[in-house]
Amino acid sequence: MEDQTEVRNFDFSKSMCSSNLKQDEVAIVMVPFPGQGHLNQLLQLACLITSSYDLPVYYLGSATHNLQARVRANALNPSDIAKIHFHDIPTPDFTSPAPDPNALSKFPSHLEPSWDACMLLREPIASFLCDISSKSRRVVVVHDSLMSYNVQDVSSLHNAESYIFNCISVFTLYCIICLSVGMSVPLEEELLKKLPSLDGIMTDKIRDRGASQSPYVDIRSGDIHNTSNVIEGKFLDLLAQVASDQNKKNWAIGPVLPTKLERISNRENICLDWLNKQPPRSVLYVSFGTTTSFSDREIKELAMGLEQSKQRFIWVLRDADRGDIFTEEARKVELPEGFEERVNGVGLVVREWAPQPEILAHSSTGGFMSHCGWNSCIESITMGVPIAAWPMHSDQPMTGFLVTDVLKIGLIVREWEKREVLVNASTIENVVRKLMASEEGNVIRKRAEELGEAVRQSTEKGGASRMELDSFIAHITR
Ligand SMILES: *[C@@H]1O[C@H](CO)[C@@H](O)[C@H](O)[C@H]1NC(C)=O
Ligand SMILES: *[C@@H]1O[C@H](CO)[C@@H](O)[C@H](O)[C@H]1NC(C)=O
Repeated sequence: MEDQTEVRNFDFSKSMCSSNLKQDEVAIVMVPFPGQGHLNQLLQLACLITSSYDLPVYYLGSATHNLQARVRANALNPSDIAKIHFHDIPTPDFTSPAPDPNALSKFPSHLEPSWDACMLLREPIASFLCDISSKSRRVVVVHDSLMSYNVQDVSSLHNAESYIFNCISVFTLYCIICLSVGMSVPLEEELLKKLPSLDGIMTDKIRDRGASQSPYVDIRSGDIHNTSNVIEGKFLDLLAQVASDQNKKNWAIGPVLPTKLERISNRENICLDWLNKQPPRSVLYVSFGTTTSFSDREIKELAMGLEQSKQRFIWVLRDADRGDIFTEEARKVELPEGFEERVNGVGLVVREWAPQPEILAHSSTGGFMSHCGWNSCIESITMGVPIAAWPMHSDQPMTGFLVTDVLKIGLIVREWEKREVLVNASTIENVVRKLMASEEGNVIRKRAEELGEAVRQSTEKGGASRMELDSFIAHITR
């Protein structure tokens, strides 16, 4: 405990930070929050910046989280990853308990110890920044909003500035801002009635953690959003207004997915091999990300529902990550007796890390049953795949609503207000049939494909998202 207090009271401004040596270079320092969805997005941005703009990029985190980011990198070019300077920040030991699959709330509270440990990184991050600052013309810190406390010492360096990279959708961010200040969300009456509440999306503890960052959030010079005008232009404009009132710059650079997915996906993988043998748009991809665990009962209902739907599927059956994924002993999840034999040829159950962007980009994939994390949604949107939305916690209910009701490229599996009711096999069966094999499903798929096409165009050279990224780089290298 004493150690922690010491770290918290560390006063960077009183320490020495000399800056005689100067090189004519801008150094970019990524400071992610330890969680797969967060680690991934900053790694992707890091790769994009090193490969397209040839700037030095540092990636800061505990040794285990830096390793996690690397071993799980999906659809990235290894030679781009090799150019990133990973810097392991000394981190206090933390326990890494298993998730509780039977908990009533799906919020991954078992990650608390890892988050506690990562809140103690202010001092080592400050000394790293000090060192880099003395060797560079400018230091540009791009960080998760949950790391605002840890990077606050940017403000005492004469040549450093920071930007928040937002890992959630702008629609969700804007709704949360509105609801938290008691403003109404600018949506039509009909939609407004169906907007999910923020009740039960997270624990009080993580809410407090978020709130404790707010004094330091203001240090930033601007915000980067992983979204595009094509997806949520109206809400980007509204948020840009909020940003400019606060004198902050704002860029929507997403979704910058690797452009050469086909080339990368030539690699051997059980999912991709299997997809190669299926008819176009016939397979439902089922995955709930890295923070959701299902109880045995829920797994049984899902298995039966998939089987009864008679649709093809790839089901990634995994528990939520632990705080340290390398301490993981996988729980042996029981599928219904004889399930895997009965669905043989129709469905594939995988328990390993799956190449999600490549699966979504595959022409045999026609739907995605998802928890609606922003990573998953933006990948699905970009690839033009409609979504069966089954939000679990945090920003997911709002993002699910964006997908199903605002963009109209998906169907809801389970309303947020019914989150404590078991989703049974017949509900699953119905929604899967509707999405994969009905007229309504076809209309939704067509809309998703059109949106995907528009989004992909925006990320090409000369496209809106690409120009935003160019503009961000031009600004930081000014
Ligand atoms: C935006 O999110 C998608 C989905 O995870 C990711 O693949 C992409 O690389 C992200 N873009 C950036 C710049 O981080
Ligand atoms: C399944 O759940 C739905 C929605 O909660 C309910 O209306 C339906 O009666 C349930 N079906 C069975 C067979 O339990």
